[in-house]
Amino acid sequence: MAEKAGHTEGLVQVDEVTKVYLQGHREVRALAGVTLTVPRGEFLSIMGPSGSGKSTLLHLMGGLDRPTTGRLTVDGAALSEMPDTDVTIFRRERVGLIFQFFNLLPTLTAAENVALPLLLDGKRMKDVRARVESLLEVVGLADRSAHRPDELSGGEMQRVAIARALVVEPRLLLADEPTGNLDSVTATEILELLRSVHQGKAPTIVMVTHDPRAAEFGDRVIRLRDGKIEEDRRTARS
Ligand SMILES: Nc1ncnc2c1ncn2[C@@H]1O[C@H](COP(=O)(O)OP(=O)(O)OP(=O)(O)O)[C@@H](O)[C@H]1O
Ligand SMILES: [Mg+2]
Repeated sequence: MAEKAGHTEGLVQVDEVTKVYLQGHREVRALAGVTLTVPRGEFLSIMGPSGSGKSTLLHLMGGLDRPTTGRLTVDGAALSEMPDTDVTIFRRERVGLIFQFFNLLPTLTAAENVALPLLLDGKRMKDVRARVESLLEVVGLADRSAHRPDELSGGEMQRVAIARALVVEPRLLLADEPTGNLDSVTATEILELLRSVHQGKAPTIVMVTHDPRAAEFGDRVIRLRDGKIEEDRRTARS
């Protein structure tokens, strides 16, 4: 993987990207020409009204969907041009995903949920146990490892989801409204955790949020409107 010191190209390069969905016979233009560079190690917040294309842009960066036109490169991989199978492998190895509703498997313990990406990759629980336990410690849940999701609070579930996203040591951590379902005190704890994770191993983070206070935890905020970037600014953190 090409990674030169002082390399100016961003971890994420979005060039003139559009995304058009077909709803019956109607075309919905979710992204109407977005050009954006996310430098390695940046923590970027994406804001904007409902329907402005935030989740769409995040999904494209994670290889969950493809642009209609334009070019998208993440960590040197041209996602807009790669075959589906390669995009899937890319996503598994280099992207961590965090969602509003945590998306944990209810029948698995916290430790098993964290281990899941590695188990799906053919590894055995006994071989990844130490790594999983150390990540649970990073997110402050060392003593909750055997709990199932229904035995955890919302904030704890999101911590498990963050540990699961980090277990593959992703280059890119994508979070879609990670605090949208949490009270404000718990939300602050989760944002502080994301910020500390970011300072530690420094994956690049892109976070969608409706909360202006949450957005300020990033280094930079872009605001989307009607599928276009209408504002791009640094925060006090940068
Ligand atoms: N799979 C899909 N099929 C058809 N239209 C879609 C699809 N996904 C999104 N859209 C449309 O694309 C537009 C952008 O959607 P997107 O989910 O990116 O918005 P958003 O900014 O994340 O909104 P919210 O803040 O409500 O989550 C919306 O008009 C939405 O209805
Ligand atoms: Mg959304």
